[in-house]
Amino acid sequence: MNLAAQNQRVLSGMRPTGKLHLGHYHGVLKNWVKLQHEYDCFFFVADWHALTTEYENSGIIADSVWEMVIDWLAAGINPGSARLFIQSQVPEHAELHLLLSMITPLGWLERVPTYKDQQEKLKEKDLATYGFLGYPLLQSADILIYRATQVPVGEDQVVHVELTREVARRFNHIYGREAGFEEKAEAAVKKMGKKNAKLYHNLRKAYQEQGDHQALETARALLESQQNITLGDRERLFGFLEGSGKIILPEPQALLTPASKMPGLDGQKMSKSYGNTISLREDPEEVEKKLRTMPTDPARVRRTDPGDPGKCPVWQLHEVYSSDETRDWVQQGCRSAGIGCLDCKGPVIEAVKAELAPICERAQEFIEQPELVRNIIAEGNELARDVARATLKEVRSAMGLSYS
Ligand code: TRP
Ligand code: SF4
Repeated sequence: MNLAAQNQRVLSGMRPTGKLHLGHYHGVLKNWVKLQHEYDCFFFVADWHALTTEYENSGIIADSVWEMVIDWLAAGINPGSARLFIQSQVPEHAELHLLLSMITPLGWLERVPTYKDQQEKLKEKDLATYGFLGYPLLQSADILIYRATQVPVGEDQVVHVELTREVARRFNHIYGREAGFEEKAEAAVKKMGKKNAKLYHNLRKAYQEQGDHQALETARALLESQQNITLGDRERLFGFLEGSGKIILPEPQALLTPASKMPGLDGQKMSKSYGNTISLREDPEEVEKKLRTMPTDPARVRRTDPGDPGKCPVWQLHEVYSSDETRDWVQQGCRSAGIGCLDCKGPVIEAVKAELAPICERAQEFIEQPELVRNIIAEGNELARDVARATLKEVRSAMGLSYS
């Protein structure tokens, strides 16, 4: 982990919607596996988010939760590198959601595009509920409670991170002000020691007087590395860098996950709702069967008819899995009718099987040790709760809700 990344916390969640497939793997999980080596990562099962749409069918959630965790572990998410937990086991998310709801204008939620879009898309469900309107705010609470700096999401979720930023800004604006802020901030600077205090002052000056963003970043990293200052002082010093109030809830950045080109068996995007998936734990025979029966360029009725890979979903799989050499072989062979479609599918079948073999093997190990999986999550829940509790304590105190 490099130094800059050490101060950055990544948080992301996934709704438990049953077994994961290759689309999830190429689209999300491979990216998480990479991120876990680069950042302090928190990954969680968003079971309450699933409940916003599955409230009439909530029985399916629990099974999906464990299936999904096994899929994560099988895909290479390492509980030694990333914290894995379940949203509803960290009830602090709900308290922060409630507190944030007090300051969130209704209009902000009503105009999030996913609100109307999803209602349209899931017409068979009644989503005119309070909980569903609050979906993105619950997501904001998920993010802010860990003071995440980066949130890996797909394109469709970027608006939710934007909302989170607005909510954080509003929260800090309303509750970050305190009497004697400057004096308290100056006193906090002194606690860092002479050398660091001087560095902090110089960096702050460079940012405020010359707009030097590099200085701002360096100052933030300096604050992150301080062991001897309280959380409250840290918030003051973050806020003092930029303005005149504490930053209790830092604004996160969306880390856009590169769009995955993983096609399904019919050439459309792989998705459960299209019924075109290969699951992460598909057994090799089933993989072979699904790929062998997959449609190809409709122009190739007979073996002797030439085809066009551009019109064939199998070609899209070659684009994911094959070397340049194999792709040349496909292009040549298809257009000249030199190879048959089954020949063409061969390397893809082998590649998918090779990709899934270690995943299935690891999944099997976890299936055989349900206690191990339970323990990984129990530990993740506890670690997550420690962070969540600390943030909530600050939030309550900033809002004037500390009665002890
Ligand atoms: N809404 C996200 C999705 O559907 C899941 C999610 C819930 C999430 N809370 C989050 C993602 C917090 C990132 C951060 O994919
Ligand atoms: Fe598709 Fe390959 Fe058949 Fe061409 S040879 S139509 S690319 S499966």
